[in-house]
Amino acid sequence: MAQKVKIDIDGKLIDMPVLEASEGFNVLDVRDLINEGIFTYDPGFLSTASCDSKVTFIDGDKGILLYRGYPIEQLAEKSSHLEVSYLLLHGELPTKTQLETFENSINQHMQIDKQFAKLFDGFNESSHPMAMVCAAIAGLASLYHDDLDISDPEYQMKAAIQLIAKIPTIAAMAYRKSIGKDFIDPDPELTYAENFLHMCFGESGETASVSKTLSRALDKIFILHADHEQNASTSTVRMAGSTECNPFAAIAAGTAALWGPSHGGANEAVLGMLIEISEISRIDEYIKRAKDKEDPFKLMGFGHRVYKNFDPRATVMQSSAHAVLEEQGASNDPLLSVAQSLERIAREQEYFVERKLYPNIDFYSGITLKAMGIPVPMFTVIFTLGRMPGWITHWKEMVSSPFKIARPRQLYLGENSRNYIDINKR
Ligand code: CMC
Repeated sequence: MAQKVKIDIDGKLIDMPVLEASEGFNVLDVRDLINEGIFTYDPGFLSTASCDSKVTFIDGDKGILLYRGYPIEQLAEKSSHLEVSYLLLHGELPTKTQLETFENSINQHMQIDKQFAKLFDGFNESSHPMAMVCAAIAGLASLYHDDLDISDPEYQMKAAIQLIAKIPTIAAMAYRKSIGKDFIDPDPELTYAENFLHMCFGESGETASVSKTLSRALDKIFILHADHEQNASTSTVRMAGSTECNPFAAIAAGTAALWGPSHGGANEAVLGMLIEISEISRIDEYIKRAKDKEDPFKLMGFGHRVYKNFDPRATVMQSSAHAVLEEQGASNDPLLSVAQSLERIAREQEYFVERKLYPNIDFYSGITLKAMGIPVPMFTVIFTLGRMPGWITHWKEMVSSPFKIARPRQLYLGENSRNYIDINKR
């Protein structure tokens, strides 16, 4: 049964409704508080639920992650990214026929219009691929705007298919641009992850040849990143989408939010940090810096707003990292030894134990992606690719029911009202 909460505002007792969750914390419904002339204050949403959702559940204390009720470990082991995308979008696992139809429609829409691809000509080879990916996703809004009806379930699903289908092609184009090579068309005979690897690393006019181990490991990475409830980028998609803008524009906003090192950019930052540390003997120095409040340095790949236990994605990622490194003959990669020692040393330290700072998914994903031959600036692009079905599912969930424009309030601490002073008198 939901708890009962009363609040006392200057002696006036008010019963606050508590909304009951199917899993996890119940939430105090503060929507009517405005009628009492008071707002709640929660910068960074530390204890605020911004919406209700049926997509993903995280129990941060127990280290549990469920997509539509299914544990991430089972999905990572048994499913595929496109099956998980279907699950997120539709709420249920597909039948064989439903999955085939979904895969076919993704395959049919992977191609990028040749005129549109000229957008990449505006960038130079040193442009960060995330800048190109943000621009290309926002640009897609120009192709899918005329029939925009966000309340139409058919339009919603069309937008979802286009985004999931086109993001590997866009991501690969950003990579090819950065190495100054021609784009490679998607091959409908390949799986989703194979296609991405082929479009990145294949040769124009040559038959695709992609390692099954690598494509399976990459598909697993996509699954692990597919959704994570109301994280910063997903909340950005919802916030932008709440203005009823074009969904491609809302997803571009989410992509920009993902880029930061506190969020999706952490995988790139982890690798940078491991390269900087480079030797086990230097780990203590970096641990000391991470603990020093005067030093802005943080141990990248450690800590999470929600997980106060092992990030279950990190556990799957760690074992996948070993498989990839073995396949690539990189089991003795010194960076892996630095990472493993860093994890062990950090987890023995009181500072990290007290604050429940555990390795997150980004700690091992960077090492895995590096071993796969994926260049460091592409790491956050891979996260974008994986997160696409999550973003579009949350957007779809929001616009499928009545919703309000996201418009937070503030605690104003600025000047009181005062009169304008003429410039000659200041
Ligand atoms: N290294 C050193 N200290 C840390 C770290 C870290 N990585 N993370 C948190 N802390 C400390 C923090 O300084 C604070 O200490 P104190 O209580 O003494 O002030 C305490 O732990 C609580 O941290 P917080 O900053 O209040 O936690 P948050 O929920 O606001 O931030 C976070 C979460 C992920 C942004 C943060 O842990 C962080 O910056 N980690 C490194 C970046 C990273 O790996 N990000 C990827 C997150 S997982 C991928 C994703 O889902 O996006």
